[in-house]
Amino acid sequence: MTIPGEEAARRLDEADPGHRHLFHVPPAEGGRYAEAAYLVGNSLGLPPRAVRADLLAELDAWATKGVTGHFTGPRPWVPYVRLLTAPSARLVGALPEETVVMNSLTVNLHLLMVSFYRPTAGRDRIVVEDAAFPSDSYAVRSQARHHGLDPDEVVVRLRPRPGEETLRTEDVVGYLEREGHRVALVLLGGINYLTGELLDIPAITEAGHRAGALVGWDLAHAVGNVPLALHDWGVDFAAWCTYKYLNSGPGALAGAFVHERHLADPAINRFEGWWGTDEATRFEMAPVSRPPATAEAWQISNPPVLAMAPIRTSLAIFDEVGMPALRARSLRLTGYLERLLDEIIPTRPLTVLTPRDPERRGCQLSVRVGAGGAAALTKRLAHEYGVLVDDREPDVIRLAPVPLYSTYHDCWRAVDALADLVAETGRG
Ligand SMILES: Cc1ncc(COP(=O)(O)O)c(C=O)c1O
Repeated sequence: MTIPGEEAARRLDEADPGHRHLFHVPPAEGGRYAEAAYLVGNSLGLPPRAVRADLLAELDAWATKGVTGHFTGPRPWVPYVRLLTAPSARLVGALPEETVVMNSLTVNLHLLMVSFYRPTAGRDRIVVEDAAFPSDSYAVRSQARHHGLDPDEVVVRLRPRPGEETLRTEDVVGYLEREGHRVALVLLGGINYLTGELLDIPAITEAGHRAGALVGWDLAHAVGNVPLALHDWGVDFAAWCTYKYLNSGPGALAGAFVHERHLADPAINRFEGWWGTDEATRFEMAPVSRPPATAEAWQISNPPVLAMAPIRTSLAIFDEVGMPALRARSLRLTGYLERLLDEIIPTRPLTVLTPRDPERRGCQLSVRVGAGGAAALTKRLAHEYGVLVDDREPDVIRLAPVPLYSTYHDCWRAVDALADLVAETGRG
């Protein structure tokens, strides 16, 4: 043990226990404790214990009903997706008709860009962060090519100021004030996957609109992590995955949001399939789609019920706990992790990249650990201490104490192990 405070961490867990009992926590690969200190819910959330029974219920329905399960039973499969709509809408601050669960995240971003990236001569730019998640980068570049445009010309990557790690809202807004007349679409991560920075979604959305652009958000790292109010903020569209903070399983389906003002706009084009036509007439098998004025119009195929079942289970937990309580615990837990890190940082070559203002971040703290050291350090943390964090090459590790199930003791273990390892490898 390198740092003090283990008993204090245990007392904090007693006073502020979270909802760990609702989840399976993997065993530790190494170290003195039975369970892993799981700080990678920003990558893959843990399984709610109730998922197994809920998933088995749908398997049983399939076994006992066959095809009739589409229309009969307590949760018929044709309208099943709607069981996910209201809880998803509550999480992102949307009207139910603005929200749908379908596909995966990058697919949804593409489908939404089909509708909302409409370049014209003189207004063809797509603004992203330089540190955008690679999939988003590839998606916007391929959308540009799809329109016959050169991605190197039209994709604008916003960088932090020299010597700074994160974007300043005033710089994004400043860019949009100067160059916004050439911008067709702003597509940013609500919380940046690498730095953990929470952007000012309402301020940037408003600036984009003032410039005449449309504004969409990738909320992979924001949904279930920070409170969102997409409808009131006037966001044009958004998409998110459900396998990180929403704990719905590896490769789980994604969510999509389209603002009410676009839902009945006949000028908006979509890629269509039979699930995007009005449910009341879907089985008339008509050759021309009649999409409803809801986000469901963006659906293409009939969705996988077995993949939706865990999302239903997981969203019920969010409804039970509520985002305000989760965010409050998240602020306490991440603040505690930050204070522990600050005790060991002065004597070690570690830097927190994430903004220090809790209002500008969610639960994740990203730490720069020295060039080339992130992957090796991550492995040793797991194998020797049972502490699961993840790394982004070359030099960043990410620690995300998830307010639903992470503990103060997990945070203490992570910093204790980090102190041990960084000193031990001579980088201190
Ligand atoms: C910010 C962000 N965007 C997009 C993706 C890609 O998600 P998917 O593979 O579900 O399309 C990820 C995956 O981790 C992500 O973190």
